Amino acid sequence: KSLSALQEERLQQAERSVLIGYHSRINEQKLIKNLSRHGDINKYFFYESYGVYALVEFASGESVASLLDEAVIPTYSHEATVPFKSRLLSLKNLGSADQSNPQSNQQFQPQTSMPINQLINRLAKEETVEQQLISLTEAYQLTEENSRLRFLVCSLLRDLAATYFPQCTIKPFGSSVNGFGKLGCDLDMILDLDGIRSMKPKPKSGLSLEFQLKRVSSDRVVTQSVLSVIGESLDQFAPGCVGVQKILNARCPLLRFAHQPSGFQCDLTANNRVAVKSTELLYLYGELDPRVRFLVFTVRCWARAHNVTSNIPGAWITNFSLTVMVLFFLQKRNPPIIPTLDHLKQLAAPADRCAIDGNDCTFVSDFSKIPLQQNSDTLEHLLRDFFDFYATFPFSKMSINIRTGREQHKPEVAPLHIQNPFEPSLNVSKNVNMSQLDRFIALCQETSWLLQQSETMTPRAGDQRDTPAPWGLASLLLPSQVVGVKSRRKKRREPASERIKSLLESLKNNKAK
Ligand code: GTP
Ligand code: MG
Repeated sequence: KSLSALQEERLQQAERSVLIGYHSRINEQKLIKNLSRHGDINKYFFYESYGVYALVEFASGESVASLLDEAVIPTYSHEATVPFKSRLLSLKNLGSADQSNPQSNQQFQPQTSMPINQLINRLAKEETVEQQLISLTEAYQLTEENSRLRFLVCSLLRDLAATYFPQCTIKPFGSSVNGFGKLGCDLDMILDLDGIRSMKPKPKSGLSLEFQLKRVSSDRVVTQSVLSVIGESLDQFAPGCVGVQKILNARCPLLRFAHQPSGFQCDLTANNRVAVKSTELLYLYGELDPRVRFLVFTVRCWARAHNVTSNIPGAWITNFSLTVMVLFFLQKRNPPIIPTLDHLKQLAAPADRCAIDGNDCTFVSDFSKIPLQQNSDTLEHLLRDFFDFYATFPFSKMSINIRTGREQHKPEVAPLHIQNPFEPSLNVSKNVNMSQLDRFIALCQETSWLLQQSETMTPRAGDQRDTPAPWGLASLLLPSQVVGVKSRRKKRREPASERIKSLLESLKNNKAK
């Protein structure tokens, strides 16, 4: 299925869904039974965020209307409420029978990824490195439920934005839908007004829409003013949206806020078609060969464990850059595991043609037309070679380019140069400084070395089955494994403090003895 077909289906499901906050002592079966008075329910699940919630998808939109008809706007003695009905509801009481069944018998669906220590334990129990990569992906990837919740948040926000722009849509992009998202990743959304723009007045009528299409100096100004009013209404009226920041002067203007009922950190942009294209491309690569997703998940997790990437914006390598680096590495295999972007462009049908701001963003949409070469590299082999590849990559001179699948001389000075696939004059990793790149290279060298050691790569014999010692991929995620890198750097700066620390340690040990 293409990404756009998948998104369309999910958005429709989301429009028929409601999100209900409730007290954990409510009997969930009774809640569902009560809701089904409004019509058939296709799917429901429960989760905990800032409170307990039920996501309920009805078979028909009419059921949602009927439910909202019944819902009251609450009145409080010392506070006033905005009379806006959204599909985010809360249930205060559900009859006296609740007390008789205080035990919640439903399982909550997790919406955040497991802590790293738990993941390491899980991986240590696997029997091969290959299984470890698969297990990591299965533990981290977005669940069916989490994906539904992401689309529901888009749909709830759309209801609000539609008060200004009735034909607008709000769609997720980035890791929420590109196949590489980890539970707990941010929710990137795009406000799409193309539905309104494409309403062409009939040439004969001679009429054009002054009230909707007010003229300003540039598309950027339009985006800024659209986001500014949406930001204002999110802040003032949208239930559950807190900490709304308008970041309108960024290269790509955006609104950043937290959606509390889902627990998602949200970024809302508009007129960002290139990012949507990059999302489609990443999705396509992830679908071509299962090894792509296993390797990307593993490298992203490794990078986060060693603070190569961060949740805070800065001079760090981003997940997007890291993903492009993995794709480039897979294009360089012999034979290549995935085709170059130029190749995907050659395979495109006339309907796939796409240009955005003068840049050619064409690539094939029909996956079945993409020929794949026979490459039987194992995941273990690929993992080792990935770190080897970047441990020795000539970063100082060369740029990474997934369009051609070949490194090229850097067109400009930057420690790390990764050509933006759809805006060739831009460097995706422009933010990365020399010290972050150095750290990345040192960690690749260290990891590559670890992967060549037989004691790291064999499951520990003789351990109890419930807590085996970390080995293989699990040992690559342990913080202690990078001590070598850290102490090499530290030794230069603060040798005295290191010496004193070890002296104190040995004194302590002697005393204990
Ligand atoms: P995480 O949120 O870190 O899990 O990954 P992500 O892929 O969602 O990254 P992020 O939220 O930073 O960006 C969202 C999407 O915007 C990415 O998937 C890309 O499609 C796009 N994007 C991010 N950074 C760049 C960039 O520097 N250049 C381009 N062209 N697109 C970018
Ligand atoms: Mg993201």
